[in-house]
Amino acid sequence: MSGIPHEPYEPKSGIEKWIESRLPILGLLHSTLTIPTPKNLNWMWIWGIVLTVCLVMQIVTGIVLAMHYTPHVDLAFASVEHIMRDVNGGWLLRYMHANGASLFFFAVYMHIFRSPTTAPTKRRVRLPGSLVF
Ligand code: HEM
Repeated sequence: MSGIPHEPYEPKSGIEKWIESRLPILGLLHSTLTIPTPKNLNWMWIWGIVLTVCLVMQIVTGIVLAMHYTPHVDLAFASVEHIMRDVNGGWLLRYMHANGASLFFFAVYMHIFRSPTTAPTKRRVRLPGSLVF
C-alpha cells in the first residue's frame, strides 16, 4: 500500500492487543507521532492552528455575548454587569472573549515572525508576507 513510510504499530502486551482490536487508537497515536516530518519543523508552526482556534472561539463566545449585550449608551454597562453576575457561565464567556482577543494578537505576531526566523531559504525574507505585515 502506498503512503508515507514508517514502522507499523505492533501491539505487544495482551491489554494493547485487546484495546487495538476494539479501538485502534494506539496505532493511530503511533502513526501520528512517528510520521516522518521535515527537519525544520518546530513548535513555531503551531501559530496558524492557534489562530484558527482563537477565531472560532471569538466567534462562538462573541455570538453568545451578543445575545445578552445591549449596545446602547445608557444600557451597555448594566448589560455587561448582567453578563458577569446573572448569566450562567457569563463571566467565563466574557473573560474567554477578552483574553482570546489578546491571545489572537500574540499569535498573529508569532505567526508573522515564524517565517523570517525559520525560513529554509538563504534569503530568509518572504516579500508578500512582509508587505501584508
Ligand atoms: C476576531 C474576532 C473578535 C475579536 C478579536 C473580538 C474582540 C473583542 C474585545 C477585545 C472585546 C472587549 C472585551 C471586554 O473588555 O469585555 C469584545 C467585546 C464584545 N464582542 Fe468581540 N471580538 C471578536 C468577535 C466577535 C463576534 C464574532 C461577536 C458576535 C457576533 C462579538 C461580540 C462581542 C460583544 C457582544 C462584546 C461586548 C461584551 C463584552 O464586553 O464582554 N465579538 N470583543
